[in-house]
Amino acid sequence: MSKEGDYAAVAEAIRKIIPKEGYDDGSAGPVLVRLAWHASGTYDKASDTGGSNGATMRYKLEADDGANSGLEYARAFLEPIKQQFPWISYADLWTFAGTVALEYMGGPKIQWKPGRVDYADDSNVPPNGRLPDGAQGADHLRHIFYRMGFNDQEIVALSGAHNLGRTHANRSGFDGPWVPNPTRFSNTYFKLLLNEEWYEGKSPAGVRQFYDEDKDLMMLPTDMALIEDPKFRSWVEKYAKDKDAFYEDFAKVFAKLLELGIKRGPDGKAVVNVLKAEAKL
Ligand code: HEM
Repeated sequence: MSKEGDYAAVAEAIRKIIPKEGYDDGSAGPVLVRLAWHASGTYDKASDTGGSNGATMRYKLEADDGANSGLEYARAFLEPIKQQFPWISYADLWTFAGTVALEYMGGPKIQWKPGRVDYADDSNVPPNGRLPDGAQGADHLRHIFYRMGFNDQEIVALSGAHNLGRTHANRSGFDGPWVPNPTRFSNTYFKLLLNEEWYEGKSPAGVRQFYDEDKDLMMLPTDMALIEDPKFRSWVEKYAKDKDAFYEDFAKVFAKLLELGIKRGPDGKAVVNVLKAEAKL
């Protein structure tokens, strides 16, 4: 029997399910990082709604947001862990697994705090459309991330997670990985953005994206916006040169992402983020 609050045991169990022969690049790590991000990235600062509390992606309304396509794999990978440790909430498990996966893949240690609760129904599911659309540009990135409460530097640092994993034509329409070794965290994504020639093309699903010369690697239009926009670009240049600064800033901003909208009561449990009528827009 697992002891309530034994997060070291949960982390150990998560590490065991990360190697996945026959799935993508042999690792569940990247899609677990993406689940933690999409669970959290629905936060809206103005109305104080959304965010990782509630594990609202369990409900069809949020699971079916096109931006969440493919995350059913991540949720399914974690289901046996939830069965093994029934005391952990899905909301804590999804965010915690993202941090464990990042570290497993060589990323920095992320400060993570428990206390999220699982909402009992879908009445506080945030509206669809709060997550970024890779087909757009710098204005869209600012609109989406400023809404969560991030600045330009934090947008660039967070985007460095595209050093991990890949896009899938049958999920987002985009196709291919950003870096040659997509299961190892590093600042290669920033170096490639600056140092490769990127050619506009179309994915097999007919979506506009960018390819390197060999068509082995890809960039989304939103990734390209990070070198086209001068304010974003200065941070890309910094992180390409200074891996330690990237790791330090990434650890801070990813921890901030997972805490968006979380307010803990005296018992350490997070308070429900009630969806106000005006936030449904
Ligand atoms: C800046 C705006 C962002 C856009 C437009 C964006 C868009 C996308 C898209 C289209 C995919 C491919 C999905 C698929 O086809 O499977 C993807 C994958 C991924 N994204 Fe992002 N993303 C953004 C920011 C982030 C952030 C902030 C993180 C984490 C901190 C992140 C982590 C990931 C990871 C790890 C994957 C790979 C998932 C896998 O291998 O299955 N992304 N993203």
